[in-house]
Amino acid sequence: MCGIVGVLGNHEVAPILVEALKRLEYRGYDSAGIATVQDGRLDRRRAVGKLANLSDALVHDPLAGKSGIGHTRWATHGGPTVTNAHPHQAGRVAVVHNGIIENYRDLRARLAHRDFHTETDSETVAQLCEEHMDQGLPPREAAVATLKDLDGAYALAFLFQGEADLIVAARKGSPLAIGHGDGEMFVGSDAIALGPMTNSVTYLEEGDYAFVTRSGVEIHDAEGRLANREMRTIPAQSTQLDKGGHKHFMAKEIFEQPVVLSDCLSHYTGAEIELDFTQTDRVVLVACGTAHYACAVAKYWFEQMADLPCDVDIASEYRYREGPVSPNATAIFVSQSGETADTLAALRYVKEKAARVVSVVNVPESSISREADLSLPILAGVEVGVASTKAFMNQLGVLANLAILAARQRGTITPGRAEELRETLRALPGLINQALACEDQIASHTAELSEARSVLFLGRGPMFPMAMEGALKLKEISYIHAEGYASGELKHGPIALIDNAVPVIVFAPRDALFDKTVSNMQEVMARDGKVWLITDADGAREAGDGTWATLVMPQVDPILAPLLYAVPAQLIAYHTALHKGTDVDQPRNLAKSVTVE
Ligand code: F6R
Repeated sequence: MCGIVGVLGNHEVAPILVEALKRLEYRGYDSAGIATVQDGRLDRRRAVGKLANLSDALVHDPLAGKSGIGHTRWATHGGPTVTNAHPHQAGRVAVVHNGIIENYRDLRARLAHRDFHTETDSETVAQLCEEHMDQGLPPREAAVATLKDLDGAYALAFLFQGEADLIVAARKGSPLAIGHGDGEMFVGSDAIALGPMTNSVTYLEEGDYAFVTRSGVEIHDAEGRLANREMRTIPAQSTQLDKGGHKHFMAKEIFEQPVVLSDCLSHYTGAEIELDFTQTDRVVLVACGTAHYACAVAKYWFEQMADLPCDVDIASEYRYREGPVSPNATAIFVSQSGETADTLAALRYVKEKAARVVSVVNVPESSISREADLSLPILAGVEVGVASTKAFMNQLGVLANLAILAARQRGTITPGRAEELRETLRALPGLINQALACEDQIASHTAELSEARSVLFLGRGPMFPMAMEGALKLKEISYIHAEGYASGELKHGPIALIDNAVPVIVFAPRDALFDKTVSNMQEVMARDGKVWLITDADGAREAGDGTWATLVMPQVDPILAPLLYAVPAQLIAYHTALHKGTDVDQPRNLAKSVTVE
């Protein structure tokens, strides 16, 4: 997703802006640019592709100035071209924007007399502001008048010709942080961007706009009233971006899982979760992508452990379906970033209707966290790799705790069984370490996998959503087509795909349904299909013969096995992508935080 930075500094800002943009690379982007004010004059440089291209452009054509704004663009309206790259400039105004201006067509029509240069929605913001200045408004007032005309979602930073000590920043729907320095001030999409410059940060709230100068910031709420927003000190480790000796952030994050899961579980062992599941008649779980698969696993837990009906929904469908919401429902919204536009909109839709709105998020200051009645942090630490790994793990950790809590409160499991499940959870970081030790074994098969044009993943019970998550991970970072299916569904269609060129990866711990999954596996092998069975020692003994590959995972209570089997799913995707030579941490077309619909 687009990233924004702004600096009112005491040194040349171009290199500072580029460095800050580098720290936003993880969000995904396809072009970048910066604008500065030098001797009162606005100027900008932009480039398509990686930031190295912008740096090159700056070497050939440097940009001076101690005040500036910068942007990484993830194309929505108009392709990734230099012209469409931000900052957009209209006369005396330069603007960077994250989000979507929904009424940009109307605004363009209203401003038809002006000279538009791009296909973007964002340019209308710069044009509109310049129009207000043409009508006599000074920069601050022109920016505020512009904001009043915008529908949609935005984080915005305005820079003005002749104003080397002013950035106007605004937030509606997309987060924005103001950083406080010593005689310097900063603006950034998140605290990570600002990390090397300052750890004193004020987050704008929904509808806020701010006049930032070197001597401080004046924040107004949506009604224009002066607003007091807390300044926070961000712990250094939460803005650190280092690969810890790994080749990619994704690898680092996969290998961090034993530690982050253990931290998360210890937190929830000690903490009293203020939720009463005895009065609730159903759980509604809503999320997107990987977080949605974490919810789909949790459905098995809530239903099997707590005898609680559970609906799982994709946020982009849920928000518009207008389905009934029981006033006694507990609605849980799961999101790593806490800013996913569809999940946030679904939360807002349900807020008036359900008894309780709970969020399970990784970024505590995010919108989804703040707007829920109760927010449960997953404590995974910053996740930089676009493909979610450790956040998925800790989402499962928190949801498992909730399901066990619900089961205990509702008396559907004995205290002994609850303790057994908690004991299994506590043992999982150790088992995950053992699974990580299988990396070389996994890697030895991925060269062949990387040749496949299509891969199927199969699983039953809670392993079915794991199969879908395994397929998502593979397609995201290796660009190989992959689908996850419930094993029992194979013969209802997908079996038509089977031949020796379509590997089938089967997640099957030796559980009560193992024999059925093995039958489905046999159906694949009978059609010359290549099966990679991922199971435990008992499963391998019973069904490991005749497979293309068999990987043995440690033994674990099958109901909680998804936390363990996530590891081979992630490592398969990672090593296949390494063979394909794709950009693992920033796969094409993907953004880390999806703040547009
Ligand atoms: C996949 C992935 C995405 C996200 C989805 C939701 O690896 O990362 O599918 O899970 O975009 O994002 P959050 O969790 O930030 O709401």
